[in-house]
Amino acid sequence: MSTHWTRKDLLGLRELSAEEIALVLDTADAFKQVGTREVKKVPALQGKTLINFFVEASTRTRTSFELAAKRLSADIINIAASVSSLTKGETLKDTAKVLEANHADIIVLRHSSAGAAQFLSTRVRASVINAGDGAHEHPTQGLLDLYTIREKRGELRGLHVAIIGDIRFSRVARSNIFALLTMGARVTLVGPSTLVPREFERIGAQVTHDLDQILPHVDVVNLLRIQHERQRKEYFPGLGEYIRFFGLTKSRAQLLKPDCLIMHPGPINRGVEIDSELADSDRSVILEQVTNGLAVRMAVLYLCSGVAAS
Ligand code: CP
Repeated sequence: MSTHWTRKDLLGLRELSAEEIALVLDTADAFKQVGTREVKKVPALQGKTLINFFVEASTRTRTSFELAAKRLSADIINIAASVSSLTKGETLKDTAKVLEANHADIIVLRHSSAGAAQFLSTRVRASVINAGDGAHEHPTQGLLDLYTIREKRGELRGLHVAIIGDIRFSRVARSNIFALLTMGARVTLVGPSTLVPREFERIGAQVTHDLDQILPHVDVVNLLRIQHERQRKEYFPGLGEYIRFFGLTKSRAQLLKPDCLIMHPGPINRGVEIDSELADSDRSVILEQVTNGLAVRMAVLYLCSGVAAS
């Protein structure tokens, strides 16, 4: 297998090899160093134009891509659905063609429909980076999660990661599951039976509905927000019951190994999937995930732009 990056687009982590994932993480290491310099900018994407096209709400991913593009010296334009011609009935394909007519080199797309980034990637010459498409994948979130775990624990192979909560509707869960398994980690999915599809057992993940039983055995807990915007009401057991069985409360956290990492992709629903104090505690790496997102997105933009190969 080649360790060279040959992809124009980043649509998901399911299709990435271990070598490709390692290449992104190693490239992100180099870009993280850039962030410690007095001048935090490199000319790698000078003359390239990036369109940050967010059809669905975002704080972390949108700002992280914007800053990543600026650190790489690219020109960047932000477009939100509410101020785009999508509101006048223009299709996603026509909007993308308009963006390309303005010589966009990279389009970063967040969309509520699974497959939107893949759809676009076959219709434009520009690189398309999936910034989250419905309940399908959120590849840069998955990569920054792996980067953070590797940074803290030195390696991914052999680590045991519990992903807790709404697995069924979570694009973050899917990207993490695919990439962690590819990198040799053990993955256990935890949540109510309605929100944890057993189909992931077929690709090597384990499933349990007993959070207290699994907590003492894991190296990382990655907590997920309940994706109310994507799921139907009957899947969710009710807030009180959910917290009782699946919320990381302070008393439940005592079951964790002392060095277990507490992660959350955000946005957090404090007091639901995680106790507020735990989210702000020393064991939480939630803000480090955000910081690492910048270096990882710089790496993804750099690799997909093709400048590394030229
Ligand atoms: N984790 C994440 O995707 O957050 P945003 O929705 O704020 O981008």
